[in-house]
Formats: sequence, structure tokens, C-alpha cells
Amino acid sequence: MFETLQKATLDKIFVLMAEYAADPRTNKIDLGVGVYKDPKNNTPIMSAVKKAEQRILDGAKTKTYKGVVGNKEFSQAIVDLALGGVVDASRIRTVNGAGGTGALMTLLHVLGRARPGGKIYISDPTWPNHIPLAENANLKVEYYPYFDATTRKVDFDAMMKVIDGLGGNDIVLLHGCCHNPTGANLTKAQWDLVAESLKRTGAFPLIDLAYLGFGDGLEEDAYGVRKVAASVPESMIAFSASKNFGLYRERAGVSIAIAKDSATADVVSSQMQNVIRGTISQTPDHGAEVVRVILEDAELRAEWAAELKEMRERMQRLRVKLADAIRRKSNSKDFDFIAEHSGMFSLLGLAPDVVQKLKTEDAVYMINDSRINVAGIPEDRVDELADYLIAAAG
Ligand code: LMR
Repeated sequence: MFETLQKATLDKIFVLMAEYAADPRTNKIDLGVGVYKDPKNNTPIMSAVKKAEQRILDGAKTKTYKGVVGNKEFSQAIVDLALGGVVDASRIRTVNGAGGTGALMTLLHVLGRARPGGKIYISDPTWPNHIPLAENANLKVEYYPYFDATTRKVDFDAMMKVIDGLGGNDIVLLHGCCHNPTGANLTKAQWDLVAESLKRTGAFPLIDLAYLGFGDGLEEDAYGVRKVAASVPESMIAFSASKNFGLYRERAGVSIAIAKDSATADVVSSQMQNVIRGTISQTPDHGAEVVRVILEDAELRAEWAAELKEMRERMQRLRVKLADAIRRKSNSKDFDFIAEHSGMFSLLGLAPDVVQKLKTEDAVYMINDSRINVAGIPEDRVDELADYLIAAAG
């Protein structure tokens, strides 16, 4: 049986994570996989999560199936958080996803059924997993330009040249906030123009919302998704609770579909449920229930939001510290963009061989496209890291 198989390509992010774990050097620096790190370099369990888990443990009476749509109250809380009431509930349907990736998988499969072999336009560059996810759903991947490697900002004119030329059969995958991998994000005015364009052309937006609250704030980061969802008749959103609730391995996410009317929404819902049942049958519930408990309880919710704010502000502080150190030491503003970007990542613009050298010689790990996870910047070794980066950039 297996003789027909060839070795598949593994995702570079998780290959690097394993390499980092296996590296015995005690001075190693992990700027690779996108997980939040505290000052002690741990990825902690948030205190609101711990408390919610305790409540669940104390109160749980059963582990029977929830049903194919999953934890409805969790989904509702996420719809409220992400959309803030901008779309009438009669047009919205949800199912839980196995994490944000699972949520994307369900939505993409439904889109693949709606437009078999249809084109999905993905930002160049993007999170590497977007590509196999779309291809596995029978969609054809095309790209729209996104990042200007010289200014390290969004190349909005180039992006809109493609977006404006799309048609009603095309799908556009947008990063709702905190673009991965670049860290360069659309302004509110640019989101307005994207929404207007989609409304005009009828191209279908699928929004990946994996970092809500990691950029400028929970409300601020929801601007784009709300603007688009309120502007067009039909859209989809994949929400991940991995980062903003620190629930990575619990796989909590929500697939949100917005249709032009309630009857169409019911059809989409049946398709989403059909995908879930035919792939994983039921979605995991522990992380979903944790989020539900937190968001439905005023005190826990406030505690979570405060902790999230602390995480966000720490990442912003680390950005500024690293950019400042590089400017001070090199007398150049070449890395100022790190402080201007937002979210978890920045794309440094280093060549793959430079990235490789940083890993082998300095034990500094980043993705080979030179994406860094800013949460991994060691606050007490910022100067040392700045030296490595300055030397590497030549
Ligand atoms: C990342 O981009 O590093 C994270 O989203 C983890 C992942 O699943 O790739």
C-alpha cells in the first residue's frame, strides 16, 4: 500500500518548532511559531481560563455529544465579540471549528462546493497553511499583492488593482487584523475601500480572524471584519480562540457564515454541518466551553480582557524596544517598521541564507521568510538580539 506514497512537505512553522525544541543551546531565542510568551519565556494559561476550567471541572455532569454545530452559546458569544451586532442575526449561522484552522477548513469546503475549482485570492505573502487548506477544498489559489518589501507597509495600490478586478465568482481571503506574516495592516480608510470594492464587484470575502485583540484592541481590531460584513450581502469569518484565549492545543474556533437571507443561511448551515459530520463528526468542546464561561461572566470577561491587554501591550513594548535598540546601535532607521507594525508578527526582509545563519550561528530562530514572533523577543536580551540582527542584515 504505502509504496505509492512520497514524503509530504511538512509545514515550515512546525518543523522549526521541533528544531528549536531539539536545540541544546541554552542561549537560544525563539521567534518562530506564533504563540504568546511571557517575560519568563513561557506560554502561560490565562488566569481567566484557569478559573473557567475549574468551574467546568466542578460543575460538569456529562461528556455526551453536543451535536454537529457544537457549543452554540460559545458561537453566539464569538459572533457578538467579532461582529458587535452589525449584521442581523437572522442571516448568521455558525458551527464550531477544531481551532481557527478547523473553522477555515469547514468554510473553505463549503465554498469549494459552491464554486468547485473556483478561484480564491490569497494575500502574497500569507500564512503558509492557507494554501493547502484552500487546495484541499477544491479551490484554485491565486494571489493579490499585499506587502511592499521596501517600505515594509501594505502595498495598497497593488492590492486594490487585483481586488477591484475580481468578479462575483471569486473568493478573497482577508486577514481580519494582525496580518500573518507581515505585521503590516490595513488602515480603517483602506478597509472602507476594500469593503466598497467587494460590494461593487460581488467578490466573496472570507475573513481569517485569528488574532482579535492582539493588535490595537478588541474593538479596534474588529473594524475591518465589521465593515466588510456590514457592507456585503454574503461573507464568512473563521474565528480562532487559540491566541487571544491562549487555548492553542484545545482547538477552539468558530465558522461564521453570513448569507443574504435566512433561508439561504439555513442552506449554508446544513452544508457546514455536513462537512463537520463527514470529516470529524463533532468538534472539540473543552476550549469552546472555557470561552463561553469567560465571555458570559462579567467578572471573568473583564479579567480576560485585562490580561489580553497586558499581552498586547507587552508585544507593543517589545516592538519599540527592539526597534529602538537597532536604531541606537546602527544609527539607521531601517528597522523602525518593527515598532510601526502590529499584532504578533513582523516580516524582517532578510534572505533565507541570512535567516539560516542566524539560527546556526546565533541560535536565533525565525521562519525562513524572516517572520519573527515579537512575543518571543527576550526583554532582557534586546540589545544582544539587536546586535545579531544588525550583523545579519549587513
Ligand atoms: C503561526 O502562524 O505560527 C501560528 O498560527 C501557528 C500555526 O498554526 O501556524
